[in-house]
Formats: sequence, structure tokens, C-alpha cells
Amino acid sequence: MAILIDHTKRVLVQGITGREGLARTRLMLDYGTQVVAGVTPSKGGQTALGVPVYNTVGDACQNSGGIDISVLFVPAPLVKSAALEALEAGVKLLVIVPDRVPLYDVLEIAAAAKANEAQIIGPNTLGVLSPEAGVLGMMGGSAEAIQKWAKAGPVGITSRSGGITTSMGYYITRSGIGLSSLVHVGGDSVVGMTHADILRLFQADAQTEVVVMFGEIGTSQEEDAAELIASGEFRKPLVAYVGGRAAKEGTRFSHAGAIIEGGFGTYEGKIERLHEVGAVVAESFTDIPRLVAEALKPKLTRSTAKAEEKEGDVWHTAITEIQPNAIRLRGYTLDSLMGSVTFGQAIYLALVGELPTPQMGRLIDAILVASIDHGATPPSTLAARTAASTGAPFNAAVAAGLLSINQHHGGAIEDCMHMIQSAMQSRVAQAISIEEAAAALVRSYKENKKRLPGFGHRIHTDDPRTKRLLTIAQEEGVAGEAVAMVQALALAVMQSGKALPINVDGAIAALLLDMNIVPELGNTFFMIARLPGLIAHVYEEKTRERPMRVIHPTNHQYDGKK
Ligand SMILES: CC(C)(COP(=O)(O)OP(=O)(O)OC[C@H]1O[C@@H](n2cnc3c(N)ncnc32)[C@H](O)[C@@H]1OP(=O)(O)O)[C@@H](O)C(=O)NCCC(=O)NCCS
Repeated sequence: MAILIDHTKRVLVQGITGREGLARTRLMLDYGTQVVAGVTPSKGGQTALGVPVYNTVGDACQNSGGIDISVLFVPAPLVKSAALEALEAGVKLLVIVPDRVPLYDVLEIAAAAKANEAQIIGPNTLGVLSPEAGVLGMMGGSAEAIQKWAKAGPVGITSRSGGITTSMGYYITRSGIGLSSLVHVGGDSVVGMTHADILRLFQADAQTEVVVMFGEIGTSQEEDAAELIASGEFRKPLVAYVGGRAAKEGTRFSHAGAIIEGGFGTYEGKIERLHEVGAVVAESFTDIPRLVAEALKPKLTRSTAKAEEKEGDVWHTAITEIQPNAIRLRGYTLDSLMGSVTFGQAIYLALVGELPTPQMGRLIDAILVASIDHGATPPSTLAARTAASTGAPFNAAVAAGLLSINQHHGGAIEDCMHMIQSAMQSRVAQAISIEEAAAALVRSYKENKKRLPGFGHRIHTDDPRTKRLLTIAQEEGVAGEAVAMVQALALAVMQSGKALPINVDGAIAALLLDMNIVPELGNTFFMIARLPGLIAHVYEEKTRERPMRVIHPTNHQYDGKK
């Protein structure tokens, strides 16, 4: 799903009203990045390209529903105060575009970032681009240009040169291979996130299969990347190119960070270490697309290749890696996840392949709680109780319940996700408003006498779960286009004269889409959530009722705690 930027992230622009700030905010908005606020001291209250401007980052965070990332376009001498302000306000990722930021200022910003458990990209960076998902900073020039040359795919790029980041992306896409994310770590000698930090993110990213690293002489960034391979922390193929072969010691080559001093950070040293750890080292820049294509073919380590020779074809799984004393779920060690993420976040990681933000985690947990049980009458509960009453063991009785979750019970989430997606697609294809797309869809369902999945309920007219889920989604800044569409559909249904409110399945469907979950996995969230409820019913049936009783589907009374 790409790294650092996607449609879910809420972005602030510091210096939004300046020349570059304004131009690059246009780029970000046009490419679909959620720029929700801007800051320019003394210009609070204005808007820039429709984005509200605040005087301080604190104001922006408070009034815009939370900020995930801030992109800085303030002149170099003012960067330190702007960056510290953002970090103090709790922003966890800063993209610092300006060049010539004083070295000691960068060190102070880096220390503050560490203290606040935040990350910085840059300074002196073009930013980040995740094709078809979002852009931060000034990478790619214009949204129109990016749409022409950058396609989504399996190759990640981390680079110390801005210009090379985009040209490498262009050549790789032109060779028919798409890109996950392109990160320009910045050209200065001290930068926030380094190649090694970016490689860790690419390792955890399910979309990225191969990474291209553009290195330069000077600093230890390439050597650190090599250590990550040697330690087994980075395990995907790495195609590396190091610029500066001909540079003489003591001469600065292109960027401020590209300088060899005291024999440290030499071209030869970097190349030798990268070779040693098994990276694919490109001799020439133009070889990179071919080497990437080769690396994408068989992603086999030497040892698995040997095993393959002996045992015939191996098959692959990308979910959990088991090694002696190490268990990794989608690249994260289970022991590091334990106690630091919620069960909901771990479920998302297992199913989607990426760790969701804490905000998304809260919402996933709320979704799971919302569906945990709905009394004794749902068919899955009746099926589980009926099986339990025959003396079936727990696993069989619970399985009977799960087997009853199908298209007409628990299946509305997937159908509703498809419906919302189709309304969102026709909105884009026909260049119409969200309200028009929603009204057209409701009309066509009515004409074809089709039920609207995710709307109406046999008992609830104002389902408390729906309201609560949508509130949490707004609070956490997770609600996006799909939530807007389901709400537009609700309005269109009302205007068509029907009293069919969004039900819990409809709310879950929209939220899962806004969290980048594919419809095919929609109902599985219901299955996971309902499991504890089914177990409770099976246990109650076994311990409270006589075997083989006739179970009436509705003739029962609640006698538990009020
Ligand atoms: C950062 C940079 C882009 C700013 O250039 P600019 O847009 O021409 O500068 P401007 O003076 O027009 O805009 C800066 C804005 O920041 C605002 N600003 C100043 N301090 C601020 C702060 N603490 N918070 C928010 N905004 C602030 C200014 O008020 C100004 O806005 P205004 O013009 O509405 O008053 C430029 O200095 C720079 O570094 N360019 C090189 C970028 C680059 O090449 N990076 C590397 C790529 S490889």
C-alpha cells in the first residue's frame, strides 16, 4: 500500500501562502493528497486554494481534525522554529523541503523529533510520491505530469538526489514496471530519515517487492543500508547505484552531503560493502530498469534456491516468517507487536499486510466491538446454539455459526463496499458531484427493484452503532471519500421518499474502504468480530439448556445484567 503517504493521511502545509507553498499545495491537492490545513503566522482566517490557514500549528491541529504530516515551505532561517512548533504540537512526520537550513538547526530539530517520537524527511528534499496514492512536497512538478509517468507497482525508490529520484522513477515506469513509493531523503550531510530508515519501511510494505537505492559518496547512509541487509532486517532485493565514482577526496560533489573526508564514505568502500551483503550493484544508471526486472523475477535467496533444487518447486507465502527464535508477521516481530499494538491493528496487519495508524486501530477495534453480538435471533447464533444443543463440541458449534454467515446474513458489508465503490467510480468517470452520483445509483437500484445493502434494519431505526462509528471516524480523521459517499447515498435514499438509514454494515463498509481494505475482505471483519459472541452463546447453550431442546427463534427473553 506504499509508504509514508496515501489517501488516508491528513497533511498540513507550513508556509502555505508563500510562492512555493501555494504552488506545491496545488500539486498535492490535484494529486489527491488530503491537505487539510495550512499555517502562516498572521494569515490565520484566510484560505489558500480552499484550504483553511491558521496562525499556529496548534490551531491547525485543533481545528482540522488532526494532522498526520506537515510539509514545510518556510525559508531556511525560519525552519527551526516552524519545525519545533510542529513537533511540539504533536505532528509525527515532517517533510522539510527548504535547502540551506543551518546544520545546527537540523541537529536541534532531529533531537526534538527523537524526543517526540516523530520522524523528519529532509531538509533539502523534493519529498515523497506514492503513485496513485499521494504526494508530499514538490516531487513530480504537477499532478498532470505525475499521472503521465508514474504508475503504481512493486518498486520502491530511496534516493539522495531529488532529480534522480524522479528520473529513475520515470525510466522504471517506462520499462513497464510500476512504483510503490519514491522518497528523496535529502541531499544534506545531516538528514532526518536515512536510506536505512526508508528500507525498514519498504520491508514492512506489502506492495514493495524490490527497492532501488540511489546513493552518493560521503556519509554512512549506504553502509548503514548494507548493515540492514547483513543483519537480516532488510530482506527484499536491493538494486543500488552509488554516484561519485570520479570525485576526488576533499571535493564536494553535487550535494552538501556528498563529500569524502578522511577516507570515510568513499565510493569503493560503499560498493564493496554492498556487494558483500548481496545487493545488486548497478555499474551504470541506465542498467537500473533491467536489474530491477531481473530482481523482480525470482525473489529467491541462495539458500532457498538450493532447497528448491533438492525439493522441486517451493510455494510462497507472504504472511508470517518463522525462523528459530523469531516470528515475523508481515515483517514485524510478534514480540515487538505484543503490548504495543491492539488486536484490531494486528488483524489489519495480518489481512492487509501493513500496520495501520493508531487512529485506524481505534476504529478497527470499534468495528469489532460493534459486531460482537446481536442477541439470540441472528441465523448464525441460532445455528451455533442448535449445533451446541446436539452435544457438538465448541469448534463444531462455532463453525456451524460461522457457516451461516453468508450473503443474506453478515454479507451486506461486502455488497455495500462494492456499491459505494461503483458510485465513487461513476462520480470520477462522469465528472459529476458526489450527490449526483449517489442519486443516480439510488435511482438505478429503485428502477431495478434491488435492495440497497447497508441501509435499513429490521429492528433499529436509528442504529446507535452507526452513529458511534461515524463519530469515531471523524474524531480520528479516518473518514474519507467512502464515508462521504455513504452519507450522500443516505441523503439520496431519504430524498427518494424512503426511511432507510445507514445501518451498521453500511457504516463498516464505508470505513473499511476508507482504510484501504478490499471488499472481498469486508465480511471477514464481521466473522472475526462475531466469534466471541458465538462462543458465549455456545457456552450458555451447553451450560444452561437441556440437550436437543426445540429452539424458538424469537420467543426468548433477556435476563442478564441491565
Ligand atoms: C522554502 C522555500 C521553498 C520558500 O520559498 P518561497 O515560497 O519563494 O518563499 P516565500 O517567502 O514566498 O514564502 C515563505 C512563506 O513562509 C511563511 N512563513 C515564515 N515563517 C513561517 C512559519 N514559522 N510557519 C509558517 N509559515 C511561515 C512566510 O510568511 C511566507 O509566506 P507569505 O509570503 O504568505 O508571507 C525556499 O526558501 C527554498 O528553500 N527553496 C528551495 C527548495 C528546494 O529546492 N529543495 C530541495 C529540493 S531537491
